[in-house]
Amino acid sequence: MTGKPSGLSHGLTNYGDPDFSLYLRRSFARSMGLSVDLLKRPVVGITNTASGFNNCHRHFPELLEAVKRGVLAAGGLPLDFPTTSLGEGFLSPTSLRFRNLMAMDTEELIRAQPMDSVVLMGGCDKTVPAQLMGALSADRPAVQLIGGPMMTGRYKGERLGACTDCRRFWARYRAGEIDQPEIEAIEGNLATTAGTCAVMGTASTMACLAEALGMILPGTAAIPAVHADRLRAAEATGRLAVALIGSGRTPRRIITAKSVENALRVLLALGGSTNAIIHLTAIAGRAGIEVTLDRLNELSDTTPVLVNLKPVGRHYMEDFHAGGGMGAVLRELRPLLHLDCLTVTGETLGERLDAEGAPWVDREIIASAAAPLEPVGGLVALFGSLAPAGAILKRSAADSSLFEREGRAVVFTSLADLSARIDDPALDVRAEDFLVLQQAGPHSQSGMPEAGYLPIPKKLAAKGVKDMVRISDARMSGTAFGTIVLHVTPDAASGGPLALVRDGDRIRLSVAARRIDLLVEPDEMAKRRAAVTVPPSPRRRGYDRLYADHVTGADQGCDFDFMRDVQG
Ligand code: FES
Ligand code: MG
Repeated sequence: MTGKPSGLSHGLTNYGDPDFSLYLRRSFARSMGLSVDLLKRPVVGITNTASGFNNCHRHFPELLEAVKRGVLAAGGLPLDFPTTSLGEGFLSPTSLRFRNLMAMDTEELIRAQPMDSVVLMGGCDKTVPAQLMGALSADRPAVQLIGGPMMTGRYKGERLGACTDCRRFWARYRAGEIDQPEIEAIEGNLATTAGTCAVMGTASTMACLAEALGMILPGTAAIPAVHADRLRAAEATGRLAVALIGSGRTPRRIITAKSVENALRVLLALGGSTNAIIHLTAIAGRAGIEVTLDRLNELSDTTPVLVNLKPVGRHYMEDFHAGGGMGAVLRELRPLLHLDCLTVTGETLGERLDAEGAPWVDREIIASAAAPLEPVGGLVALFGSLAPAGAILKRSAADSSLFEREGRAVVFTSLADLSARIDDPALDVRAEDFLVLQQAGPHSQSGMPEAGYLPIPKKLAAKGVKDMVRISDARMSGTAFGTIVLHVTPDAASGGPLALVRDGDRIRLSVAARRIDLLVEPDEMAKRRAAVTVPPSPRRRGYDRLYADHVTGADQGCDFDFMRDVQG
């Protein structure tokens, strides 16, 4: 063997006779029925995340065929391999707990197996960040292929899309406006095609951020899962994966401090999912790049909201694609972006936008920067005595009449406590109170579920109350809306002040001042802290133990402490 290892000769264990090792490997490869000619080609690995537990990836077998077609046509050998797949609705206690597992799995298999480049096929919420985290750490040439969003369904003349409409109808069912047979009929029409949730939830937000980072083909973030263009994008991604070989364009050159800042701008302009802050922080951390909530606030104050999609606005992902998609968003943001960022195609972001010219844009879906939907960004970070290391509010999805308020805390000490008491007719709660949930952060047993969208107590919902201030260390689904303060850090389980809130305490929220304060005297807080008895930690083993010992707070992206970059 001479020169740089490529194709099947990558990483061969050398017991003194490297040719023997290659001969052995090739003989096994030949048992797959591949011709000797094909086995001499450079290898493109393809992560295959089709799974019976991931409805969003239902179409991946067909997409995979298209990727392989592209690789073969460009002179490579496509070899797919399974990795962890995370289907949002099927994981307990929460999919976030397994994002780091998928990232490790992806990283190690890219590094351990003989491939010259890799196509990352992802879609559902946690899969896109997990793959970007893993690929960045492995740092082999990589391009991501997004699975694409679902098409909307129809019900009694109305368009339905998972899962903002899921929540809307469920709230009506809880309020007694819809009966059992009707909610069952709706259930059958919410998610009717392959693909990810049909709104600007976490999956679609992450797809758009992958494009803003430059890790997918331009213009492909929002192509619907079942659209023929999605298959053409898959084929083109396969071709690109071959072109990447030997180019030196690895994820580390693409995901940089500047491209991460571009992604933050895009997140704000989309009014995107709060989860994306955590994921982007974790991705950036793999390259040694810090995402601070102070910087988020600076960007938020200078980035307009442009995209009119549910859950914040009115439309669906299929409309976003048809209306101009990410290209249109990036063009409007152009003066705010770092245009010299390299993308996976080899073009810079600026070159990409120049090449696209000025195609038609549906201004009902994607507003111009001159006439934005909102002059400032959709997300803000809050700091204060209740959240010393920060909390997040999606102001674009909230009722602004609740933004400058002081309220009485109604505290739920855990998820179990919440579900036991929230609908109790005897619960002492009024519409102007602040609902507080504890022990739902990354260090809690529950693993930071999307529980921050606390339901409105039934007796208030029945009176027509639609929104209340809700505060927790949990996350919120990207498809949800409300005046909801999330990711309170440090979380209750790691000793944050959130754990010390008691029924009847006063809390002050000021979105204008970016503050969330617990109005309790320091000596009273000290007394409460001294009285806290820490229960003996349960005996843990396996992944559960690894997670408990090493997960970081929301401000660090909830990555494992030892996975963050050590060289950069
Ligand atoms: Fe997969 Fe919503 S459940 S994207
Ligand atoms: Mg989600």
